Amino acid sequence: MTVLGLGAMGRALAEAALAAGHPTIVWNRSAGKADDLVARGAVRAATVTEAVRAAPVVIACVLDYPVLRDLLTPAAGELAGRALVNLTNGTPDDARRTGEWVAGHGGDYLDGGIMAVPQMIGRPGALILYSGSREVFDRHRAVLDVLAESDHLGADAGLAALYDLAMLGGMYGMFAGARHAAALVATVGGDPVRFVEQRLVPWLTALLPVLPSTAEADDPADSSVAMQRVAIANIIRASREQGLSGDLLAHLLAPIAPPADPRITEDVLRLADRTAG
Ligand SMILES: NC(=O)c1ccc[n+]([C@@H]2O[C@H](COP(=O)([O-])OP(=O)(O)OC[C@H]3O[C@@H](n4cnc5c(N)ncnc54)[C@H](OP(=O)(O)O)[C@@H]3O)[C@@H](O)[C@H]2O)c1
Repeated sequence: MTVLGLGAMGRALAEAALAAGHPTIVWNRSAGKADDLVARGAVRAATVTEAVRAAPVVIACVLDYPVLRDLLTPAAGELAGRALVNLTNGTPDDARRTGEWVAGHGGDYLDGGIMAVPQMIGRPGALILYSGSREVFDRHRAVLDVLAESDHLGADAGLAALYDLAMLGGMYGMFAGARHAAALVATVGGDPVRFVEQRLVPWLTALLPVLPSTAEADDPADSSVAMQRVAIANIIRASREQGLSGDLLAHLLAPIAPPADPRITEDVLRLADRTAG
């Protein structure tokens, strides 16, 4: 296989392929990043065109789609009869447009979302979501499976990006909430890291089984939306009293209210203001 892009993630992908004994061709803008991979048996391509020509499967993992398109445009004539597996982060439409562009040059396209950090690649726990041609996925499954557990979501090339971004959204919501919680504890002299380790992580872990029930905008009998709105308003008010902004939290918490109600954020902020007065 060919790996285009040897940033933190591309290097991990190339290392896993090499470790599994797959002939691996590599290319990166900063060519020196390939040195230790070449020392371990990878073949360095001088150009993207040479790299694409060298293998039936081309894994691309670069910063973003504009970079990907700039790199691939001069090599477009080599895509016919090959599969481009694009693991670069982007939107569903980015993926669909790239799939059409590759098909227009006679190539196959599989889009992927990497649900792992580089040190997890090639190890249990790493997952890559794929979408696009099932036939291409099945044909190259053996090589994809050395990178991570592989899960094909469907023929629409945009699905992997959509699920990837949805999962990242959940992750960043949690990270942002944890950052805010730690900052709040720090305002009274608490150690933010110890608080997250010893209090927040065990509490969130205990709450995880409840998470699926929060995915829909129902009004659960044991945690009513009305009750939650008061608690959210109190978090915002406490944040303000301690000198922090509560606005980010108000926006993050908006989906807890029925999605048909666009006034939720304003409602919660108004409630926080009223209870503050
Ligand atoms: N790292 C993670 O934890 C992680 C996790 C999941 C998914 N991903 C995804 O994997 C992809 C790559 O991430 P990464 O962590 O490898 O990023 P990175 O370490 O910042 O590497 C970026 C890569 O893009 C290349 N690049 C940037 N601008 C370029 C340009 N103008 N022309 C040619 N090449 C260019 C870099 O080449 P140079 O080496 O020459 O700069 C490098 O190969 C991203 O889409 C990211 O979202 C990463």
